[in-house]
Amino acid sequence: MELAQHASLVMSTLDEAINSLDNVDYFLDYLHSVGKMHLKVPGFKREYFWKIEKPFLLAVKETLEDRYTENMEVIYKITVKFILETLVAGYDSALASSDIPNGNASASAAASSSNAMNESKITNGEQ
Ligand code: HEM
Repeated sequence: MELAQHASLVMSTLDEAINSLDNVDYFLDYLHSVGKMHLKVPGFKREYFWKIEKPFLLAVKETLEDRYTENMEVIYKITVKFILETLVAGYDSALASSDIPNGNASASAAASSSNAMNESKITNGEQ
């Protein structure tokens, strides 16, 4: 897959996720399956999902221009963190239930970070 093609997939995934925030079951299923799918990517690590956080926020800021208020910033920061936590949770739970030793991560690390539903524990992904 071309880099540009994947970049477009990443943005449409974020778009789809934001548009489905009012349907939490779909939101979780969708992002879990995208997260899980990355298990087959050679050399992939869960923390790579977080690489998109800052560029995404920058893109929002540039797009919204003067509509990018402090309140908007807070909302988008929380939203993208929730999306990324959910992707990681999907990746981790698929990894924990798979018997393929792909060497990308350990089961204990997976268990400790698969809690995207717990809003009080939103992290920056760099733990
Ligand atoms: C938030 C971050 C990311 C999102 C939302 C995302 C989303 C997606 C989506 C929607 C697909 C297509 C799934 C399908 O075929 O149905 C995909 C495929 C893929 N992604 Fe990502 N991705 C992310 C990060 C990454 C990163 C960091 C890498 C590599 C380091 C990566 C590597 C790949 C590869 C290689 C495929 C193609 C796999 C295949 O079809 O065999 N992704 N991604």
